[in-house]
Amino acid sequence: MNSIYSAKLKGKTVFLRCDLNSTIIAGRVALSSRIREHAKTIYFLSEEDAKTVVLSHQGREGRDDFVDLQRHSKLIKKLIDKPVKFVKWNEDYVKKIKEMKNGEIILLDNTRFLAEEGKELTPEEHAKTGFIKKLTSIPNSIFVQDALSVCHRSHASVVGLSCCMHSYVGPVLQRDLDALSKLNEIKDSKTLVLGGAKVKDSLKIIEKTLIKNYANKIIVGGVLGEVFLKAKGIKFGAKDKFLEEKGFNEFNSKAKSILEKFSDKIVLPIDLGAENNNCKRTEIKIKNLPSELMIYDIGWETIEKYKKVIKESKLTIFNGPMGMFERNGFALGTKKILECIAFSRTFSIIGGGDTEKALMNFGLMPQDFNHLSLAGKALLSYLAGEKLPGLEVLKK
Ligand code: 3PG
Repeated sequence: MNSIYSAKLKGKTVFLRCDLNSTIIAGRVALSSRIREHAKTIYFLSEEDAKTVVLSHQGREGRDDFVDLQRHSKLIKKLIDKPVKFVKWNEDYVKKIKEMKNGEIILLDNTRFLAEEGKELTPEEHAKTGFIKKLTSIPNSIFVQDALSVCHRSHASVVGLSCCMHSYVGPVLQRDLDALSKLNEIKDSKTLVLGGAKVKDSLKIIEKTLIKNYANKIIVGGVLGEVFLKAKGIKFGAKDKFLEEKGFNEFNSKAKSILEKFSDKIVLPIDLGAENNNCKRTEIKIKNLPSELMIYDIGWETIEKYKKVIKESKLTIFNGPMGMFERNGFALGTKKILECIAFSRTFSIIGGGDTEKALMNFGLMPQDFNHLSLAGKALLSYLAGEKLPGLEVLKK
């Protein structure tokens, strides 16, 4: 793969795929690391006298966060102190791009407004259709992919342009790839900490990650941990109803088969944090279940057990919280595990959408870790050794 630093940029039209997808709070775009990091790439390209055309999606159709990118353009402008022209899809965007002068920046509107989300076509198919066909007609252009977080999608703006122009790796993506190269460099004592409620995605990758030897131990927390405990026949009591109602019981057999194959590699909770009748945290040992109390976290003894594994690891990757950390009293598991990862000898990679928010709540900073990845699901796919379409096109 070619680095952006090896490209001739002056006078070139650079199609830069970023991931500006951010949380929208009361109609406002939260200033995320994603926007800050990609803004640096945009600044760099403008300073190199390229004509920078930024492509990004925001949200998913049908959700409240499916908004245009005008507010993103204002944030980037503020961050880099350079004009950023926001261009909608119903304008003559090809003409506007052709009229750009060196150093100018255009941010095109939400790529998913063009229904690219539902269309997982091959790069060649994308190149022949819609806005990609129009963009590839612009001469003297190159493509730069700057976001690992979108590379698991075979969407038009991710894979379409590479067939028709030279393609490069941007600095944000490069940092992810550099950190992830440790997965091959370090041969043993690699731990993956998985939590949260994205059980389907997590279960899908565990087996592959272990077989690929990207991890030797998998620590589980959050609802994922509870699904594994349930697969071992544990009855929670009150929490069982929640797991059933939310459809988590359908993952029972998958979790069971993983445990049968890899019982020595999956590290499970031995106690849990529950809420008592006075709305206070209380610890419950697994052997004392079932309980009528609701469970929202891993317990103190589990925290100590997990810390021991992390301290012995040469590499630890964290993806997903250990419990409902936003709830009063139940941030403990996530906080203590993140602190241990930050302050131990282990090489640390932190991923997942909401992790940055959690870090800040705990007084931790991104620089406390070797690498903070801006990717969530794409990072998991990478860990499973899956081929990511957005990376594959850069290799050609
Ligand atoms: C993300 O937030 O992980 C990326 O922006 C990808 O979003 P998606 O899961 O909606 O494709």
